[in-house]
Amino acid sequence: MSKNILVAVAWPYASGSRHLGHIGGAYLPADIFARYHRVIGNNVLMVSGSDVHGTPITVRADAEGVKPIDIVNKYHKEFLGYWDKLSISWDNYTTTMTDTHIEVVHDIFNELLNKGFIDKQKSLQAYDASENKFLPDRYVEGTCPHCSYAEARGDQCDSCSKTLDPEELINPVSNISGNSAEFKETEHFFLKLSMVQNELSKWLETKKGWRPHVINWAKSFVKDGLQDRAITRDLEWGIKIPVDDLGPGKKIYVWFEAVIGYLSASKEWAQINNKPDEWENWWLNPEAETFYFIGKDNVPFHAVIWPSILLGYENLNLPTNVPANQYILVKGEKASASRGVGKTLDEYLDEWNPDALRYALASALPEQSDSEISESEMIRRNNEELVAAWGNLVQRVFSQIKNNFDRLDEMSDLSNEDENLLNDFENAFEQVGNMIEKVELKSSLQEAMKYVSKVNSYLNETEPWKVIKEDQKRASRILYTSLTAIDACANLLYPYMPTTSELVRDAIPKDTDKLWGVNKIKTGVKLNEIGLLFKKFD
Ligand code: MF3
Ligand code: ZN
Repeated sequence: MSKNILVAVAWPYASGSRHLGHIGGAYLPADIFARYHRVIGNNVLMVSGSDVHGTPITVRADAEGVKPIDIVNKYHKEFLGYWDKLSISWDNYTTTMTDTHIEVVHDIFNELLNKGFIDKQKSLQAYDASENKFLPDRYVEGTCPHCSYAEARGDQCDSCSKTLDPEELINPVSNISGNSAEFKETEHFFLKLSMVQNELSKWLETKKGWRPHVINWAKSFVKDGLQDRAITRDLEWGIKIPVDDLGPGKKIYVWFEAVIGYLSASKEWAQINNKPDEWENWWLNPEAETFYFIGKDNVPFHAVIWPSILLGYENLNLPTNVPANQYILVKGEKASASRGVGKTLDEYLDEWNPDALRYALASALPEQSDSEISESEMIRRNNEELVAAWGNLVQRVFSQIKNNFDRLDEMSDLSNEDENLLNDFENAFEQVGNMIEKVELKSSLQEAMKYVSKVNSYLNETEPWKVIKEDQKRASRILYTSLTAIDACANLLYPYMPTTSELVRDAIPKDTDKLWGVNKIKTGVKLNEIGLLFKKFD
């Protein structure tokens, strides 16, 4: 029975280039997970899009003296280029400015308003008197009230990850004028999170197998007591509020609407594919599973706020798991090309085969804690694990077969060691698959690579290049066994390195076409050509 799996991936702000940390944090793990579920026959829907609203965009536009839409168009296009080069297999990658998104956001807003889960409240908001402007989110900076970090932003503290409102900051300063922020009364719509406090804690208690850093964080956030949160802002750039009680100059808060993108992107996918109701398979079917791939700074919004919105709206599926990653560190600092920490993604993509880059990153995924990634370690992995172990294994076996046999003949009388090697692979698919299902992607890759080593050891022990001189038939059995194992390795590695794995398995003629399992190689035909899979760095 195939399952419906929603792979929901954090929506990147279209306000700056991505770097390796983003790719390893969310997009690559999501893609590995999605590709695996597709090959085992599940119905996968993988969605995300560019997050086009919010103060990160307008701050950037102000700094460059252009319009927010110019910034959005530039980076959205840039992101599409990354997904293409890195083979990130979206079912729908869209933006938060589509008509569908705006409709779905308005529907949820209205429904929550009718249910009394949204109401109007007056509150004090940071204000820059010299500029005559309210200061939402990233327009104000100050000291974090939770951890005393001095450069906390009005939306979130980068040091302790707590979500913030500008008025909670100590010594708030306007980043437009540099003057200290004043506070002025303004009216906004609020999400009454306190109403779902109990239901949410009960739901979190039912969650098994979540990463400890995610579940612990979410539980402590809820235990501190959920505060009502403003979901509108004094801003021009944003989605309009569907009721006009507040007067002009206010818009929906980016975090309220961006998370709704998971639902609107699913609906949009269904419309594009002319099956307008099919989004329901992932959102209404209680058997469906939903996984949110995000970085740790997004945990509050995905493990607490979005589930609260879903609970308030009722009937839509809540997250099955939120396998957030921690940070990728470059020399002890959070990777960030804009701050000059690490190379830009474009630089990596110019120098690296995309599959090799995926491999090096997947080997260092920060699943449980911040993980250091160094270029020398990435290069070592490329040279030793991809070029020398995997690529060379494929090359060796292909050339032995081509140089010595016109074609492999009918295969029977495999020896015990041949059978043992092939039987081992049955476990491989189960073990590697189980780990991927638990989103332990770093260990599952290590496990898969053990099988590459096993085939290398098998070859070193059986030495077909020597055997061939005395016993052609036996040598052909060994090479047949190795080729079967190579095809199986390509299947195991496919979620991680789709392009090179497809090259390998397409070059091997087969009688069966399993994508997750061991195939039967076709005999009596020639092997197809295969080029060099990976290149060595000096
Ligand atoms: N744009 C946000 C960020 O980059 C993430 C948004 S995820 C969403 O941190 F689900 F809210 F869209
Ligand atoms: Zn803090």
